[in-house]
Amino acid sequence: MRSSRTSVRACLAALLTAVGLFAAGTGTAHAADTPLRDLAAAKGKVIGTAVTGSKLTGTYGDLAGAQFSSLTPGNAMKWGTVEPTRGSFNWSEAGQIVAFAQAHHQQVRGHTLVWHSQNPSWLTNGSWTSAQLGSLLQNHIGTEVGRYKGKIAAWDVVNEPFNEDGTYRSTLWYDGLGSGYIASALTWAHAADPDAKLYINDYNVEGVNTKSTALYNLVKSLKAQGVPVDGVGLQAHLVLGQVPATLQQNIQRFADLGVDVAVTELDVRMALPADSTKLAQQAADFTSVVAACAAVARCVNVTVWGFTDSDSWVPSTFPGYGAATPYDENYAPKPAYHGIAEALGGTTTTPPPTGACTAAYSVRSQWNAGFTGQVTVSCSGASLSSWQVNWTYGAGQQITQAWNAACTQSGAAVSCRNASYNGSVPDGGSVTFGFNASWSGSNPVPTVSLG
Ligand code: G3I
Repeated sequence: MRSSRTSVRACLAALLTAVGLFAAGTGTAHAADTPLRDLAAAKGKVIGTAVTGSKLTGTYGDLAGAQFSSLTPGNAMKWGTVEPTRGSFNWSEAGQIVAFAQAHHQQVRGHTLVWHSQNPSWLTNGSWTSAQLGSLLQNHIGTEVGRYKGKIAAWDVVNEPFNEDGTYRSTLWYDGLGSGYIASALTWAHAADPDAKLYINDYNVEGVNTKSTALYNLVKSLKAQGVPVDGVGLQAHLVLGQVPATLQQNIQRFADLGVDVAVTELDVRMALPADSTKLAQQAADFTSVVAACAAVARCVNVTVWGFTDSDSWVPSTFPGYGAATPYDENYAPKPAYHGIAEALGGTTTTPPPTGACTAAYSVRSQWNAGFTGQVTVSCSGASLSSWQVNWTYGAGQQITQAWNAACTQSGAAVSCRNASYNGSVPDGGSVTFGFNASWSGSNPVPTVSLG
């Protein structure tokens, strides 16, 4: 069902993309008219992205500001970033992201206060008593949460506390303070900013499984003890085609505990190179995740972990894998972008930019009463087994001869079909045909469509 629907959509998209393109080398489609953040708002949801502060200018900044209603600093608020030397702080990137978010009326998800990774070496290499560790952690949380008090909608207070089997991960914090470090961290964060929503965030907890059940039991017990925990973050670093079937059920069971849920780090990685089939599957995966969140009232935010493939952790961490985000490396929206929009109730009238074939018309040479024209049919992320290119001349031009295509002209309307030998246009390939024609007065380039 999913694959036939997807392929129909892909074909329709390819046809629509071709319509109206002329003399264009590539079929760059525009993003859906309604930004994701507006679609999300209409559903009472927040859509976010992880960002790198230094990149928030130009197209990256434009898209981050226009499409998303929440930003998560990918690295800027981690302990190793903000206090690389003990007592010496660097808030520059964190502050930059908070300022950008405020200027664009966006929420900020603070990430992250207590983690086993990306801590400063002075901390990890130190030898601390339990009391010292507790005091270091309390000061860190108080300093960072206090600094941004009132400016952070939600904090990932505790990040990745569990092993896959549901036991607590051995970390600086667990080993030194016991599992009580989690309740302490939440309590200290609440004291520093009582209005911020406080989350526990982990990966591989998207579906109902041993690890997510451990998280569930922890949250249940914290709630029972009156510890200030407001939400769980499901990171959702997913593999193509592997959205857990129990995702919505899992979100719902946390919601039923009385906490909010956020999908905090969504990406869907695939083996490279990407192709139209994988990109269509990825779109379906993004749709599934966003739809699961949209279906549960207490699922408040879906955040992608980088919105462009040029700003993703995946290729360096999983060699040979990538293309995990909704925009490609050149900031063109991928089918995944449209998958998100669709799950948020957006229309699919605007076709995806990839998985498309396009036709480009150009005048190669021109003389007093005649000219030679050329049309190139190109495919990227899609392919054709036959083609027909149509256009209408606006200034009385008349085709006299064509090669590598069978062209007919009726009045101003021209239609050129593939020859017997060049109907096939492979993914990443192109076919060119030419023609001679007459003109007088002017010779404007017509709009061509591919059928
Ligand atoms: O800043 C240095 C730079 O100076 C240096 O030239 C460069 C060379 O490798 O490294 C830079 O640091 C990198 C840092 O990202 C900033 O780009 C680190 O090597 C790299 O390890 C670090 O990776 C981050 C990763 O967390 C570390 O575990 C990713 O950007 C970040 O997206 C990722 O995010 C985590 C979440 O916080 C928690 N959940 C999982 C997620 C993915 O790993």
